[in-house]
Amino acid sequence: MASLNNKTVWITGASSGIGEALSYELNKKGCKLILSSRTTKALEKVKNNCERPSNVSILPLDITEYYEMPAKVKKAITAFGSVDVLINNAGISQRSFIVDTDFEVYKQLVDINYLGTVALTKAILPYFIERQKGHFATVTSLMGKFGSPVRSGYCGSKHALHGFFDVLRMEHEKDHILVTLVAPGFVQTNIAKNALVGDGSARGHEDTDNANGLTTVDFSKKMIKAIEKEKYEVYMGGKEILGIYLKRFFPKLLHKVVLQNAAKK
Ligand SMILES: NC(=O)c1ccc[n+]([C@@H]2O[C@H](COP(=O)([O-])OP(=O)(O)OC[C@H]3O[C@@H](n4cnc5c(N)ncnc54)[C@H](OP(=O)(O)O)[C@@H]3O)[C@@H](O)[C@H]2O)c1
Repeated sequence: MASLNNKTVWITGASSGIGEALSYELNKKGCKLILSSRTTKALEKVKNNCERPSNVSILPLDITEYYEMPAKVKKAITAFGSVDVLINNAGISQRSFIVDTDFEVYKQLVDINYLGTVALTKAILPYFIERQKGHFATVTSLMGKFGSPVRSGYCGSKHALHGFFDVLRMEHEKDHILVTLVAPGFVQTNIAKNALVGDGSARGHEDTDNANGLTTVDFSKKMIKAIEKEKYEVYMGGKEILGIYLKRFFPKLLHKVVLQNAAKK
């Protein structure tokens, strides 16, 4: 078990929800933090709410500006002299049927959730290889393991992350680079409110599933433990986790259960 105490951790999507809660928990553990997302003001607020703001550096970025990522990596390393862990957490969801969804929405989901994460990961990879250490902790979703209606593009982008990071773990084991895939179920954040609908606008309201999900504090504590235990892949949530096992052993039953649940909403 490798404690994160006093490590330097770079968190994307740190301005709200899971990323924000991770920032507070890791700051309490004495970590040096680099916080990224598009919204500087929100990042500054998170920094100021930390117990030890002097251990926090703000690095605004839009993860879809792929070719800027090598420059962002240089800045992140300079902030505290090293980066030990990259938490790939930035992401956006979707709530719209396939037939109603503009192609541009699919592009946006893949651009942010998948290609943005790949671009940042690839930008820091040479640094981790040179150091012969480094840890990628990537927040995917249970929707990266099985499907559910109105989330087709989201599911696709999150499934893709599992493929990419499983390969990264294999190719760079020799360089002592670690990969932890964290697949949440429902967590109490604004993810459903910010989710894209068919025309690309934001949904604008919450989901009861998310409102009844894990708190961000409970989630982030569990996620930190999983990183410290160097887990390959973890699922965190309530009974929705059962979907993983149904998919593996009883895929037709999963299909029925998910459709029944969707019909109730
Ligand atoms: N909450 C859940 O139930 C749940 C379940 C499964 C998976 N997840 C995953 O958890 C992660 C965090 O989401 P959350 O639930 O905490 O939702 P959230 O509160 O909406 O947070 C999303 C974060 O991503 C950032 N972001 C979005 N687009 C970005 C871009 N182009 N460049 C950089 N940052 C960007 C946002 O910051 P800015 O707007 O400031 O850029 C925000 O900090 C996501 O990957 C999500 O898919 C959440």
